[in-house]
Amino acid sequence: MRAAWYERLGSAAEVIGVGEQPTPSAGPGEVRVKLQASGVNPADVKRRSGLARYTSMDGPLVIPNSDGAGIVDQVGAGVGDHWLGQRVWLYNGQRGGRALGTAAEYIALDAGLVTPLADDVSFSAGACLGIPGMTAHYGVFSDGPVRGKTVLVTGGAGAVGHYAIQLATWAGAKVIATVSGPEKAAEAEAAGAEATVNYRNQDVGKAVLDLTDGAGVDRIVDVDFGGNLAATLACLKLNGVVTAYASDGDLNPAIPFGALMGRNATLRPFVLNVLPLSARQAAQRDITRWLEEADAIHRVADSYPLNQIVAAHEAVEALNKLGTVIVEPHR
Ligand SMILES: NC(=O)c1ccc[n+]([C@@H]2O[C@H](COP(=O)([O-])OP(=O)(O)OC[C@H]3O[C@@H](n4cnc5c(N)ncnc54)[C@H](OP(=O)(O)O)[C@@H]3O)[C@@H](O)[C@H]2O)c1
Repeated sequence: MRAAWYERLGSAAEVIGVGEQPTPSAGPGEVRVKLQASGVNPADVKRRSGLARYTSMDGPLVIPNSDGAGIVDQVGAGVGDHWLGQRVWLYNGQRGGRALGTAAEYIALDAGLVTPLADDVSFSAGACLGIPGMTAHYGVFSDGPVRGKTVLVTGGAGAVGHYAIQLATWAGAKVIATVSGPEKAAEAEAAGAEATVNYRNQDVGKAVLDLTDGAGVDRIVDVDFGGNLAATLACLKLNGVVTAYASDGDLNPAIPFGALMGRNATLRPFVLNVLPLSARQAAQRDITRWLEEADAIHRVADSYPLNQIVAAHEAVEALNKLGTVIVEPHR
């Protein structure tokens, strides 16, 4: 099969090659997916470049990208034939000890990591649902239903943030989102945010209190825990929850224990791929239901053929993508 891979960490241009690799077969408990779309997420490029927590290779040869979508074309022992021909999206393709991800024509992986994809959802959209969609799901629902609650989604035009707004709105929450300018405010509002606050030129804590008549918010789905901590302390309600999936503004912030304790705050820093299985299964289930019930908006930033995967990784590294960058393995 055609695939992209790297055998050492480094810049995309230096280490990623495209060529032939053995086509995998579905092992026991696995399905094989003929991939139509592969999602490139920030952690995929950090893993390939050796940045942040990712200082070692996940195997001697790594096929990058964890998310994807395609059609099941083979099942292994113990997996029902009903999967054959099924359109699916998948997550954790290159995570948790798995080295061979989705930047390839085929992937074989545990059947529990794939979810049926309805005919009216494109493969590119399906390849957005793993990391962005499931992270958003846990960010919103980590502590139960949000009906009637007020949720602050920081970075509401981000790949994760945009889904978080949609999922929280679908589940009956009032959503306020932070953004960096008018274009992103429009994205967040289209996703369902009732109000937006520009975090670059407004006092977010004060603005959120004003928008909630002084009450504050029940939950914060946070893209920058350290960078946003002052605003969090200003607008989180008593017994509120902060579910944080990144902290790029300050990776090791000083924790104001007294203020957080006084607020009875629950802090949930988390990383999707190692969440308890029950939480990941809940995300697969609820996302399927949400796709059936809501007019979901999927934000594909750009699509590249497999032989331009270097450009796709660089597009994520440029830090100005709007949505998820997609690689099409068969293009
Ligand atoms: N823990 C996990 O499991 C997990 C899962 C997914 C992603 N992540 C991490 O989460 C981060 C975002 O991923 P993504 O794919 O959503 O990226 P993205 O599409 O680039 O979105 C990031 C968004 O965050 C906004 N932003 C940055 N700093 C902010 C701040 N202090 N307050 C409010 N908004 C802020 C950016 O807005 P502007 O550019 O307009 O400023 C941008 O819209 C990455 O670091 C990624 O590695 C972690």
